[in-house]
Amino acid sequence: MAAVTPVRALPLEMLRERTSEKWREYPDDVLPLFVAETDFALAPTIAAALERAIRVGDTGYVASRTPLAEAFVGFAERRFGWSVDAARIRSTADVSMGIVEILRRVTTPGERVIVTPPVYPPFFELVEEAGAVIERVPLRDTGTGWELDLDGIRAALEAGARAILLCNPHNPTGTVHNAASLTALAELAAVHGAAVISDEIHAPLAQPEAGFTPFLSVSDAARKVGYAVVSASKAFNLAGLKCALMVTADDETTRVVRSMPVEVEWRTGQFGLLAAVAAFSPESDPWLDGLLVTLDENRRLLAELLSTHLPAARYRMPDAGYLAWIDLTGLGWGDNPSKRILREAKVALHFGPAFGAEARAMYG
Ligand SMILES: Cc1ncc(COP(=O)(O)O)c(C=O)c1O
Repeated sequence: MAAVTPVRALPLEMLRERTSEKWREYPDDVLPLFVAETDFALAPTIAAALERAIRVGDTGYVASRTPLAEAFVGFAERRFGWSVDAARIRSTADVSMGIVEILRRVTTPGERVIVTPPVYPPFFELVEEAGAVIERVPLRDTGTGWELDLDGIRAALEAGARAILLCNPHNPTGTVHNAASLTALAELAAVHGAAVISDEIHAPLAQPEAGFTPFLSVSDAARKVGYAVVSASKAFNLAGLKCALMVTADDETTRVVRSMPVEVEWRTGQFGLLAAVAAFSPESDPWLDGLLVTLDENRRLLAELLSTHLPAARYRMPDAGYLAWIDLTGLGWGDNPSKRILREAKVALHFGPAFGAEARAMYG
């Protein structure tokens, strides 16, 4: 196998030229680490695809026939050993929109949707946007990691919850849910006639040794109840270009996604689509492998630095992604340590409880 070349971050002066949310929210002397955008140059395959589009002004609407679904089928097979049917994929602007559009169709207003805090904060709003109501079933601390609380989920389903919004891999803990828990989740959902919407946006960032199990790959029950929403946007830093995919594996769930008006698909960004096709192509695999090497180095470096300089901080390396979920309560830096860190170190972090008040009790 060819040696993997780690992908390196751009110099800080160049990053400060960026105009995205990450680089514009705070003054120039603050190091912004509060939003999930990466600090790498674009993968050369993606830069080339976008440069071609700029050269010929290929900036119109997305076409009704595109190579996107086929490109994802190849990616899913190569990276996860997951067989996807291209005919069961539709695109939309972003993962958030895919989640809302699916929730609108699998719940009626006022019905409850299970979320598993601490979790990506907009999940709470997306459920409300769809007219549904949040049912919280926090993740469970296993002592060395986190897992779905299947008993809690069963109880919520028995009490009438209609859907589960799964985050796999999980933001913010970086947990890759294992096949056994996903299989059990699918079984529970099937027994109770509930849908599982699996947000798999961080999947391409699962470290090889952790593996990643696509929800729709675990069982017939999962294929019956499940919807996966995926995107190249986190791994390849394409969030502003707007392209995500809704994937199904059963006739009924496919019918639900096909019943969405064509406008849902038209909201896909042309640049997002072109970039995603390039990202999912085999030519981008070496770049993604190099990125994973760098993210592995970074998570190990962070663990080492914390244990040397802040031994009271608690951190578990993520299985996937580039987020760090760190408990700083032992440092005695007040109720909201992110305020002090911003003031004194000029580093902008997210405040844990924004991911759910349960965050306060997430380490033992
Ligand atoms: C778990 C998760 N889902 C969704 C999103 C947002 O994705 P999008 O910009 O495609 O809506 C993020 C962004 O960080 C995320 O972490």
